[in-house]
Amino acid sequence: MNNEFAVELAQIEKIYHTRHFFIKNDDTGKRRFYERKTIHAVKSVEFGVRRGEILGLLGPNGAGKTTCVKMISGLVRPSAGKVFVEGMHVEKNRLKVLRHIGVVLEGTRTVIWPLTPLENLCYFGNLRNVRGKVVKKRGKELLDFIGLKDKMHTQVRRLSRGQRQRLAICIALIADPSVILLDEPTTGLDVQSSRAIREKVVEMTRELGKSVLVTTHDMHIAQRLCDRIGIIDKGELITCRRTDDLLEVFADQTYEIRLDDMPDPVPYKSIPGVHDAAVEQDGVGGPMLVLRVSDDENERSEALYRVIARLQSEGRILRTITQRQQTLENVFLRLTQSTI
Ligand SMILES: Nc1ncnc2c1ncn2[C@@H]1O[C@H](COP(=O)(O)OP(=O)(O)OP(=O)(O)O)[C@@H](O)[C@H]1O
Ligand SMILES: [Mg+2]
Repeated sequence: MNNEFAVELAQIEKIYHTRHFFIKNDDTGKRRFYERKTIHAVKSVEFGVRRGEILGLLGPNGAGKTTCVKMISGLVRPSAGKVFVEGMHVEKNRLKVLRHIGVVLEGTRTVIWPLTPLENLCYFGNLRNVRGKVVKKRGKELLDFIGLKDKMHTQVRRLSRGQRQRLAICIALIADPSVILLDEPTTGLDVQSSRAIREKVVEMTRELGKSVLVTTHDMHIAQRLCDRIGIIDKGELITCRRTDDLLEVFADQTYEIRLDDMPDPVPYKSIPGVHDAAVEQDGVGGPMLVLRVSDDENERSEALYRVIARLQSEGRILRTITQRQQTLENVFLRLTQSTI
């Protein structure tokens, strides 16, 4: 346990056991079929959310992100390892821990549709011991902060999806928690709503000093929003580092060489210093030979000279050479699947 972290996961494992009854077996045609499956959803995951930071957790579908969020908020018990929130062991101090956490799970099911936003906030505030005038005042302030003041007295069922999502964030904040867990807060929202939510999350962290864990599939949001990024794939944490560092690790390494016609990338792969080569077409100009080259400056220089010499010997017209701007999306794809 480390004091610098508001949330800490230590060697966390989660194994789900599922049982299926009354399934028809296609081979035998029998209807009563019992099947037991074990799903290793999270494997020895270790990371922490520092105080006052926004940590993004990215990963493909089924990677284990929601499971992590649920384990932090005490909704799911880890099969092994410990989760600490504000220094408290979640399993041993569930009720105390819950006072420090505000969570928005996937979708907007936490919002009660026949009530108005203000009524929702009073209801959830009451459940968390924020009562009377205090809850009303805080509720109004939050609705104002998130841009829902004019919908304060409109039934939730008459709100748009983005407005409901904003309300879900207010509900998570009503008891003034120090840790906020947001599971895909911008999925399905339009550009304006996602941007508004992104700005609010930043404001919340910087001005109100919250520690935030956010899971998302939106790479643009993650790149702009998160101080650090953890990438999880098939239950394993592949990396967790500062967003800038993550982008830098993969910078300088990919070059796009635009040509007049399509080269065969295979021979280029065997040039020393070239780690990978592929041909891509983006419909803008001619085809591109995309090369991933060595980190080492000398090796890289040598490799590029050899590539150019080979292109020249093949009689190709070289239009442009550019260094590919590294985006989180590229980094993510390279870490989670074999792409250049
Ligand atoms: N209640 C459950 N019972 C059994 N298996 C589960 C349960 N919840 C999740 N899983 C399994 O655990 C794995 C991780 O699921 P999880 O919901 O954490 O993924 P995720 O990273 O949030 O994915 P997504 O991006 O699709 O939301 C999946 O293989 C899923 O099928
Ligand atoms: Mg999920």
